[in-house]
Amino acid sequence: KKRIAVLTSGGDSPGMSAAVRAVVRQTLASGCTAFAVYEGYQGLVDGGDMIKEMQWEDVRGWISEGGTLIGTARCKAFMERPGRLTAANNMIEKGIDALVICGGDGSLTGADKFRSEWPSLVEELVSSGKRKAHEVEAYRHLNIVGLVGSIDNDLSSTDATIGCYSSLQRICQSIDYIDATALSHQRAFVIEVMGRHCGWLALMAGVTCGADFIFIPENPPSEQWEEEMCTIIKKHRAMGKRKTIVVVAEGAHDRSLKPISPLMVKDLLSDKVGLDTRVTTLGHVQRGGPPCAYDRMLATLQGVEAVNAVLEATPETPSPVICMVENKIVRKDLMQAIKLTKQVAEHIEKKDFDSAMKGRDAE
Ligand code: F6P
Repeated sequence: KKRIAVLTSGGDSPGMSAAVRAVVRQTLASGCTAFAVYEGYQGLVDGGDMIKEMQWEDVRGWISEGGTLIGTARCKAFMERPGRLTAANNMIEKGIDALVICGGDGSLTGADKFRSEWPSLVEELVSSGKRKAHEVEAYRHLNIVGLVGSIDNDLSSTDATIGCYSSLQRICQSIDYIDATALSHQRAFVIEVMGRHCGWLALMAGVTCGADFIFIPENPPSEQWEEEMCTIIKKHRAMGKRKTIVVVAEGAHDRSLKPISPLMVKDLLSDKVGLDTRVTTLGHVQRGGPPCAYDRMLATLQGVEAVNAVLEATPETPSPVICMVENKIVRKDLMQAIKLTKQVAEHIEKKDFDSAMKGRDAE
């Protein structure tokens, strides 16, 4: 019977706790033993109480909780081999032979590295005398399965990452609130939204809130964007609009990759269009709060599938990542998905924006 551990890593996202609940319960329902690793990879390195056996009722109510109830961290020690060696030793100590990781692309890349290094880590534990050969016999292979938890929706090969629709909902709600005050004063608001290098949140929020202009990193505006934006906004005002909303993704830039900041946009709207303008940075409000129904469903279905993938894996199976494609839960090759994701950033760096726009869904 497998002994399966789950951890959350990188920035938290709504639905991560629901994913942990699903992994724990599907593990138990399959007759296996479930563990939760607290504080991300740091918990693996620290071992002891940070790796806790989980029972059915330990995750009661977690489906509707925001953030991640087992904690997350950006762990420096795990980035170095000695940290991963200690982590491997702690896992063998607890008899864990499979790991489900819910995180962003960085966290999942770390997971795959851990898996590929695993046989040599076990070897080193034996040769250094930390473990006896017979103790590691059952731990020659490590199964890793990825779940993508991120508000950014920035991983290729999946239509949605766990948390992105909750975050989008929060952004829309916030912009609706801003709309009311903007309308009252006939003001303009420049709203900065999260997304790191990915414009999905900004684009979707802009469309769903009827923004006047949207800036995203994958599709920067033309060289004459300042004039273009002012002309469009003046036109909207001339048509009778009482408010102006411009959404700026935090990673926005122009076609020569010079950052476009909310402050730059505000100055233009004030000085060139003559609008009373304010900037609102939504910040971490976008990341907290309970998951929406879609994210609860996504996390639950994907958590169940992650455990099934562990139970069906062979040492030869490449690490899978559980995705949602056209409303179906599917397994994809984790490293291939990460490679496609990285290609988008490379296209942007090379200023090949046409490819950047296609990139994330490319197969
Ligand atoms: O990846 C999720 C995310 O919220 C990004 O949208 C944002 O750029 C980043 O994390 C913020 O990170 P931190 O919480 O460490 O400031």
